[in-house]
Amino acid sequence: MSESEIRIFPNLEELSHEAARLFRRVARDCAAKGGVFSVALSGGSTPRRLYELLGNMPCSEQVPWGNVHVFQVDERCVPSDYPESNYRMIRQALLARVPLPEVNCHRMAAEQADLEEAASQYAATLARVLPPKPGEAPRLDLVFLGMGADGHTASLFSGSPALQEKMLWVRANFVEKLSTQRMTLTFPVLNAAAQIVFLVSGTEKSETLRRVLKGPLRPELLPAQRVRPVNGRVSWYVDQAAARLV
Ligand code: 6PG
Repeated sequence: MSESEIRIFPNLEELSHEAARLFRRVARDCAAKGGVFSVALSGGSTPRRLYELLGNMPCSEQVPWGNVHVFQVDERCVPSDYPESNYRMIRQALLARVPLPEVNCHRMAAEQADLEEAASQYAATLARVLPPKPGEAPRLDLVFLGMGADGHTASLFSGSPALQEKMLWVRANFVEKLSTQRMTLTFPVLNAAAQIVFLVSGTEKSETLRRVLKGPLRPELLPAQRVRPVNGRVSWYVDQAAARLV
């Protein structure tokens, strides 16, 4: 079962710099072994600074982008040029600024009418780029996750159907509290990853972070607690404001 570390940083800026160093290090290690580096990126506001750092000098020149495959953790059901689109944010902050081959950039087409079909196409892409061992899920090298103040991660919200998913790697997921559909990676593929890093910032998340890390195990209420890589590690990069109760 996974080991997890908690790293506390003075602020989001320093947390983001450390996450960028990790991205660069793992990408270079994978390239040095002649392999691809597969990373899944979350949406929301917290990871934007990390993406900006990766998309600008000096980081942008220090990553072997030809070896990198970028996946999304989850997506809102809007066209990719809409303000709420996670892909739009990731593209503006990072993808449009680095020489990542277009074929290595795997967008979740969550605007498609048949969301289940779009989800299974995305799962097929994961399996094509990261052929899984029999009976296992594709293994991402690195996943950046966020955590909502309600304890959700990816688009895996308490009470939503995809929370119980045991087989599929990508799901359409109706989120009642937001009255909307989302497309999301599921726990089977998240927990198959080699390394997962939660990026958590802000005092408004401190009580939830305490409950997730120190409180009783209630994954049906706090989905972030379900992130436990089978054969990998999970790290929490948190700023002092979020960590004030931990
Ligand atoms: C999304 C995200 C989601 C996010 C959390 C935290 O689509 O919104 O992928 O899981 O990581 O909601 O969001 P913030 O970073 O904005 O607090």
